[in-house]
Amino acid sequence: FSLSVDDLKKIAAYKAVEHVKSGMVVGLGTGSTAKHAVDRIAHLLQQGKLTDIVGIATSMKTHDQAVSLGIPLSDLDTHPVVDLAIDGADEVDPDLNLVKGRGGSLLREKMVESATTKFVVIVDESKLVKHIGGSGLAMPVEIIPFCWSHSLKRLVNLFADSGCEGKLRRDSSDGNGEIYVTDNGNYIIDLYFERDIGDLNEASDAILRLPGIVEHGMFIGLATSVIVAGVSGVTVKTK
Ligand code: A5P
Repeated sequence: FSLSVDDLKKIAAYKAVEHVKSGMVVGLGTGSTAKHAVDRIAHLLQQGKLTDIVGIATSMKTHDQAVSLGIPLSDLDTHPVVDLAIDGADEVDPDLNLVKGRGGSLLREKMVESATTKFVVIVDESKLVKHIGGSGLAMPVEIIPFCWSHSLKRLVNLFADSGCEGKLRRDSSDGNGEIYVTDNGNYIIDLYFERDIGDLNEASDAILRLPGIVEHGMFIGLATSVIVAGVSGVTVKTK
């Protein structure tokens, strides 16, 4: 028999949920992989194998999923310290740096995942890369809507040496859809690089110094472990 990518996502998610213990405050990730973890936590709660869990959702979508499954929810105002967060990623490099946000939820994800004691990332093996931002796929940046085109140009100019292109995210990929709006009422610029962007912390600082930019999708040094499900088994990478 052969495993689909979705099977691999589920395997990684279930493995991560083994770290959830009764009484924990748990950051609930967003995306097709994290969805399996949320389902699994709800299932264990229903079976009584977990009790007293408080979830902190990283998006409205996950919030709605958790509510529909009966997972009690709170927020960072009430629970500023999260015990464990479980979330997917778009790219994972050998140092466990991530790109996240192709699903659009990077800001709340980063708020929750920088407030957690343990951040377990769950991916199928297709997400592993040598350098983040170097896969030719999008590196998302959340910006305020005001003068978005100006912000787009300033972002692209920062990375001129890396052959950067930027696109405002829309609801459909043909470029004609409505502008995609995040849970926070902001827009997303997807950056694409032809060449390596170099030092990630420098890139991060440069992006965050631009007025109008809210957050970017590089999660540098935040993951404590990454569970990778592949066709030949599960591996756990830890820092
Ligand atoms: C959501 O904004 C993202 O950060 C997701 O966590 C990431 O895109 C991974 O999603 P999948 O598990 O659906 O690939």
